[in-house]
Amino acid sequence: MAKPGETFETDRQTLEIEEREMTESMDRPQRLRQNARWRALVRETTVQPSDLVWPLFVKAGSERPTPVTSMPGVEQRCVDDVLELAERAEALGLGGLLLFGIPDHKDERGSSAWDPDGPVPAAIRAIKKATPELLVWADVCLCEYTSHGHCGLLDGERIDGDATLPLLARAAVEYARAGADAVAPSDMFDGRVAHIREALDEEDFSMTPIVSYAVKYASSLYGPFRDAAGSSLVHGDRRSHQMDPANAREALREAWLDSAEDADVLMVKPASYYLDVISAVRRSADRPVAAYQVSGEYSMIKAAAANGWLDERAVAVESLLAIRRAGADCIVTYFAPDVAPWLLEG
Ligand code: PBG
Ligand code: ZN
Repeated sequence: MAKPGETFETDRQTLEIEEREMTESMDRPQRLRQNARWRALVRETTVQPSDLVWPLFVKAGSERPTPVTSMPGVEQRCVDDVLELAERAEALGLGGLLLFGIPDHKDERGSSAWDPDGPVPAAIRAIKKATPELLVWADVCLCEYTSHGHCGLLDGERIDGDATLPLLARAAVEYARAGADAVAPSDMFDGRVAHIREALDEEDFSMTPIVSYAVKYASSLYGPFRDAAGSSLVHGDRRSHQMDPANAREALREAWLDSAEDADVLMVKPASYYLDVISAVRRSADRPVAAYQVSGEYSMIKAAAANGWLDERAVAVESLLAIRRAGADCIVTYFAPDVAPWLLEG
């Protein structure tokens, strides 16, 4: 720090700091930080339980919960056991749930994805009966249902997005029929929002919103999720359809396209490493923006906290605040049930 009378250089100018300036006209941002009441009054960003969507993994069958080793606190649950979590979400005032399915049968085409008796439609029906007001989003993708773990049909080694669109639409319609409050396509194949919208409208689900994973990167942060959802790849990767982490301008193109195809909410994923992208989408889009704090973001904080290296509560809240500050209206996060009481306590 410069002292009165001292001269120091910045790249643009040389400044002389005078005694008078220090005492009489020093700018004092600290005035508004001196106690909790002032800080609360001038706070620019908040996070509330109702901003948060909790992802859940629903498995077929009636086995007891299976913990996911790489995601402490997360479990795969059968439909009966998932109801307890829905009731918890409702009691905490969470914004909603996002459901992923773990089927008992996988094949090349991922046909369990549109089975009306599959884990996701069954869970939607049960949850909407037990807690009718709680919003339930259904993730739409084939990777949990295909034997090869890819998000779409394979044509040799190539992932055939175009041929996959009718199958995604079929799954989306089944989830809408089961009572989903939104369908959330997470595949990143071109044209899927328009395709799904058309199929929903044809089946009289014109009021079912599409929460599009509009800007989804081919990120290394999805590793723990693939354990949780049992969607590890047998070969290859997702870089032919998910975005290159190096690209930001392209995010606006993706967001604009999904908006033009009438996606109701645009999701950016992952969140914390892509705050610039959330902010850019927020400024240019005419739709609400969601952000997905993915499995790797969650597990890194959990692992550091388990070692006593970070304060889990403080870091989790700070991470969500950062995502909101960047411009996300709502956040999908595995921390949802844990942080909700902390947020209310302040
Ligand atoms: C399926 C899907 C993935 C995630 C959400 N939906 C995995 C992937 O694309 O590989 C990742 C969520 C997370 O990491 O928490 N397409
Ligand atoms: Zn997928």
